[in-house]
Amino acid sequence: MTGKYIVGIIGSYRKDGYIDSTVNELLSAARDRGAETDRIFLLDQHIEFCTNCRTCMQEPGPERGKCILRDDMDSILKKIGGADAIVIGAPVNCGDVNALTRKFFERCVGYAAYWPWGTKIPKMRKRKRTKKAVLVSSSAAPGWYSRIFTPAMGSLKKMAKLLGAKPVGTLFLGFVNQEEVRLSDKIRHKARCLGRELAA
Ligand SMILES: Cc1cc2nc3c(=O)[nH]c(=O)nc-3n(C[C@H](O)[C@H](O)[C@H](O)COP(=O)(O)O)c2cc1C
Repeated sequence: MTGKYIVGIIGSYRKDGYIDSTVNELLSAARDRGAETDRIFLLDQHIEFCTNCRTCMQEPGPERGKCILRDDMDSILKKIGGADAIVIGAPVNCGDVNALTRKFFERCVGYAAYWPWGTKIPKMRKRKRTKKAVLVSSSAAPGWYSRIFTPAMGSLKKMAKLLGAKPVGTLFLGFVNQEEVRLSDKIRHKARCLGRELAA
């Protein structure tokens, strides 16, 4: 056992879709290397919209700010807080990561930053990024095109930073326009390599 704990966050709307299948492949390779893994399918979670009340951002210091909303975010952020590595997967919808992923992202701000009323800029709660991250996205357009011409990967990188994680690899699946979801050998291989890296 390596003792590594890896949390996969899946923002896709489709179970067994491209994002879900890729993250599963990655987590499965990590488990083969002795890691413990958890899978958070955001659609299955009770996640309310941020209300912009900024309560979670008032208290300075390293501890995660408390949100006033009573839903599943607290337990999700606890899991992420205890993880050695995270995988974040989200499809490109309308030119950026999909709405569910952004809804989750907005609810993570108090985890990483504080920004009391009357102050000009937010401050990070912790400077060091101690977790590893792998970021996964997919689009109907070619992967190289979406990687360059959409902000999706940049959005996932911001999310990783907010969650205290440093990306060690990214995967962008392009041409995902077949009804039957089948990962190419190349993607499967890359996902498994990255999974092993997270478990190391
Ligand atoms: C509402 C909607 C908007 C989409 N917008 C884009 C887009 O802007 N660019 C693109 O390349 N693909 C777009 N797609 C295709 C999705 O990226 C693709 O279905 C998704 O990556 C598949 O991932 P999944 O199998 O995990 O659902 C869109 C799909 C939907 C349903």
